[in-house]
Amino acid sequence: MEFMNDLGKLQRLMASSSAGVSRRQAILENLPINAGDKIIDVGCGGGHLLEHLAKAVGEKGHIYGVDPSEDQIVQARDRCSEFENVTFFNSYANDIKLDQNWCNSVTSTQTFEYIEDIDAALHEATRVLVPGGAFVNVSILWDHFKFFGAEEVLNNRIHEAFRAHCRHQMLPMELPGKLTQLGFRNIRNKSLAFVITQRDENSPARYTEETMAFFALSQGISKTDVMDWRAQLSKAEKNRQFGFTSFPVLTIAFLK
Ligand SMILES: C[S@@+](CC[C@H](N)C(=O)[O-])C[C@H]1O[C@@H](n2cnc3c(N)ncnc32)[C@H](O)[C@@H]1O
Repeated sequence: MEFMNDLGKLQRLMASSSAGVSRRQAILENLPINAGDKIIDVGCGGGHLLEHLAKAVGEKGHIYGVDPSEDQIVQARDRCSEFENVTFFNSYANDIKLDQNWCNSVTSTQTFEYIEDIDAALHEATRVLVPGGAFVNVSILWDHFKFFGAEEVLNNRIHEAFRAHCRHQMLPMELPGKLTQLGFRNIRNKSLAFVITQRDENSPARYTEETMAFFALSQGISKTDVMDWRAQLSKAEKNRQFGFTSFPVLTIAFLK
């Protein structure tokens, strides 16, 4: 899935929603950050995390945002314009334009699951880390990403179509093994799962519904079916029979 134009905008709204805030909070609580550190955010999107990191490492530290979407980089640059210690690379995770052993930490949020050659991307993250450096990743267990309240057959069709948006549906389950092979230790997974039963303007479920509707149309599901699905969710919400569950997992690991 390419995060440009409407999808890029929806993704940034999602990042500003309560789900985005709580992920960033979890990353900032788990990432060891010292003044003067150098940290990379792989798939930095609109740069929401970068500005917190830039403040945390101070003037002597440096933050690098990596993203192949020019649209996202433009937004991230704008968001971080007041910081002189942020550099952007409009490139892919498997091609980070930094020397080896350059960074104290690598972090990433909902990005590695989209990368086809994930082993090459993880190898690159390992290359730029100093020995003892931290890797903190948040990825979603997509099998548990689900709306409730619409008619079951239609609901399942929309969810089934959405599976194609992402290469690795259950990455947090695979990551500890992959990281062990790359020489990481002290690997832990932490649940950031949440459930929503009513939506407000800042609800991730609102932007998720829009993203899934957009994606379903692109996968050949008819406009009538997509509109029915949305109307059924809305009705279920009014009747207090609506739900949305998501299961992000934070993985933390340290390079030997
Ligand atoms: C769901 S967004 C997450 C953005 C941001 N991390 C956040 O939490 O708001 C995924 C991001 O990964 C980027 N991305 C996709 N493929 C990538 C790759 N191969 N290497 C690096 N970033 C990638 C996309 O352009 C997009 O900005």
